[in-house]
Amino acid sequence: MADVDDIKDGKDFGLGTPQDKQGFIIKGNANYDWGLKNRMSRIFNPKSGRTVMLAFDHGYFQGPTRGLERIDLNILPLAEHADVLMCTRGILRSVIPPTVTKPIVMRASGGNSILRELENETVAVDIEDAIRMGVCAMAAQIYVGSDYEHKSIKNIIDLIDTGQRYGIPTLAVTGVGKDMARDARYFGLATRIAAEIGAHYVKSYYVEDGFDRICAACPVPIVIAGGKKLPELEALEMAYKAIDQGAAGVDMGRNIFQADDPVAMIQAVGKIVHEMVKPAEAFELYGDLKNAA
Ligand code: 5RP
Repeated sequence: MADVDDIKDGKDFGLGTPQDKQGFIIKGNANYDWGLKNRMSRIFNPKSGRTVMLAFDHGYFQGPTRGLERIDLNILPLAEHADVLMCTRGILRSVIPPTVTKPIVMRASGGNSILRELENETVAVDIEDAIRMGVCAMAAQIYVGSDYEHKSIKNIIDLIDTGQRYGIPTLAVTGVGKDMARDARYFGLATRIAAEIGAHYVKSYYVEDGFDRICAACPVPIVIAGGKKLPELEALEMAYKAIDQGAAGVDMGRNIFQADDPVAMIQAVGKIVHEMVKPAEAFELYGDLKNAA
């Protein structure tokens, strides 16, 4: 029986000693099959090992939020600057032209809305349909600590098991319910659980204190969500700190599509993620692109 009353917080995370990638650019992915490695290599740039994912799947539970009222007008102009597009199958089929060849990470959970319990999700895409649409990965939320913890973890397990059969990776998205702490202890727990059940990569939020420990303890890549809209320079600073502390990229939505100039913002974020330019330089680039538009 588990001794839950004697769990000691991790202490030595080997910061400064990166995990051995065993000869493959993507952390923890060296021992996968060809199809999985190929799809992961389309998500993570094989040169930098990093990715700028543009997340615009928010409508699946919150409807036409600011910046996503019209995906054709708001998002399509950004697509060429993203490494990966993250969206639902409904938006993919109805709005994204099949001539857009960016890798797709498909939101594969749903069944909830902002009007009820956010955490109560189910798998919302059949693997055959995901394959039919040529996706590079499927994504679902893991709500550790919520009333629906078990159900959300089971959703991820089901996606991983079916995805493994066809070489399609799973992105586990650490969701935070209304009453959950957003700290290193919580995200460390959730990201590690996701990796332990076999998620190929994991999305977390950035936290000021202890983000490097979250990344070190997660044996597969972490990408960060942007979270609530911040002033552009602050969002760029957050991206820089996350990459500097071990994230392998961003899966950013609101801080890009709600920016004053989303096209400029996604390019500035890309400079940080792939070239590690300092936030001030990226912000200058943002300003130049915005003024030139
Ligand atoms: C919604 C998601 C979003 O894709 C994620 O939150 C990223 O968007 P943002 O940067 O706006 O937080 O998983 O549940």
